[in-house]
Amino acid sequence: MADKRFHLAWFMNFTPDEWREPFGQGGYPWDGQFYIDMAQSMERACFDLIMIEDKLMVPETYGGSRDLSLKHAMMVPKADPAPLAVAMGMATKHLGVVATMSTMAYPPFMLARLSSTIDSLTKGRFGWNVVTSAEDLMAKNFGMDRLPAREDRYAMADEYMDVVGKLFESWEPDAVVLDRKNGVYADGSKIHTVDHKGKYYQVRGPLNTVPSPQRRPVYLQAGASPRGRDFAAQHADAIVSVANGVEGMKEFRSDIRARAEKFGRNPDDIKVFFCICPSLGETEEEAQARYRNVTMSDNFVTDVLISISAITEIDFAQFELDKPLPEKLVTNGESGTLDKFQQWGSGKTLRQLAADGGGGLVSSMELIGTPAQVAEKMGAAMAEVGGDGFLITTPVLRVSRRYITEICDGLVPELQSRGLVRTEYKHQLLRDNLREF
Ligand SMILES: Cc1cc2nc3c(=O)[nH]c(=O)nc-3n(C[C@H](O)[C@H](O)[C@H](O)COP(=O)(O)O)c2cc1C
Repeated sequence: MADKRFHLAWFMNFTPDEWREPFGQGGYPWDGQFYIDMAQSMERACFDLIMIEDKLMVPETYGGSRDLSLKHAMMVPKADPAPLAVAMGMATKHLGVVATMSTMAYPPFMLARLSSTIDSLTKGRFGWNVVTSAEDLMAKNFGMDRLPAREDRYAMADEYMDVVGKLFESWEPDAVVLDRKNGVYADGSKIHTVDHKGKYYQVRGPLNTVPSPQRRPVYLQAGASPRGRDFAAQHADAIVSVANGVEGMKEFRSDIRARAEKFGRNPDDIKVFFCICPSLGETEEEAQARYRNVTMSDNFVTDVLISISAITEIDFAQFELDKPLPEKLVTNGESGTLDKFQQWGSGKTLRQLAADGGGGLVSSMELIGTPAQVAEKMGAAMAEVGGDGFLITTPVLRVSRRYITEICDGLVPELQSRGLVRTEYKHQLLRDNLREF
């Protein structure tokens, strides 16, 4: 019988939990323990990986000031994902840990060295979410007045991938000989200078870390524009996406697979994960009521608008909440997210868009119901789409232990009993787990 399994991943960030709500954890997760517990829950539920989102600025687009972001703790404070990935990786044995790092922020040598180090620390379970950043506010923290245009950022990122690739390869796999008898640690003839002199980067190399278990981290990417999709299809091991319903998911995955072939890659080496935010209840009515309560609250609507304003650098406070948007909006930032959010032509008011969305991190499909109902729907969707997996999150990435339990002890067992997801890990390396099915 054909293997109908798909992969599960979890999407979060190192920000306050669902701190305002009755089942929150208090809003002060900075010692990492809450998120380490979360990683252990994900491992218990056999998720392939946990992915940590990141941004490098304090948003101040919504309402023209940073006050509302700070008041709501929306996208700020946000702590560094790399040390958290280490902490989560060292508290687990099988789960992949993925940190977001921007090609606009890290010199390639630093990124390659950091990734190689974390991959060794986690015994081959590190992934890098490759982003090119989306905000002028971010650029101002890195010596630029504004972010280069999307096309230019991707051109830089193409060269960046080339450079880090060369750095990861700069030590041959057997360069470390550890010959105690003859006193040889590493064989110099197997470690090579890189001497990269390109349009954007100059790196001599070699890397000063040993080859890590995966040699290079698993690459995740979320390109949505045609240029972004090409970039992802060329480089990524896994792509995360917010699509429009099952049809949109199918279309996106076929498009990525066609692009991968164009670049001479085996499409099966790229797993596409669709972002979803299941809303669960003991009955369908309860799940619906909980969903309505969350998404129609004033706090939620403001959280969403702060978040979509931050990543598009369009001030959504300028538009009337109870009217449709006056024009189709464009951004040099996260275009796919904006397009999905604005549902241009739907006639919905901004409040309805905010309720539907969640800072753009909306569900690719609606999943509201009992764990069994949601599991059925996920199975049917994947059968239609053709694979590969789901990236589970919450609309504005706020989490509570209650939600984690609902997913790990409610939804996942339902998926497992239908033979739809993994019940054990077979491999040590994250890349091998991703390619298992
Ligand atoms: C699920 C998901 C997660 C993302 N995570 C981040 C992130 O952590 N940091 C970031 O700067 N951008 C993030 N992005 C934005 C993407 O990297 C990308 O810029 C965006 O999807 C727009 O695609 P484009 O660059 O092709 O226009 C994410 C996008 C999606 C769909």
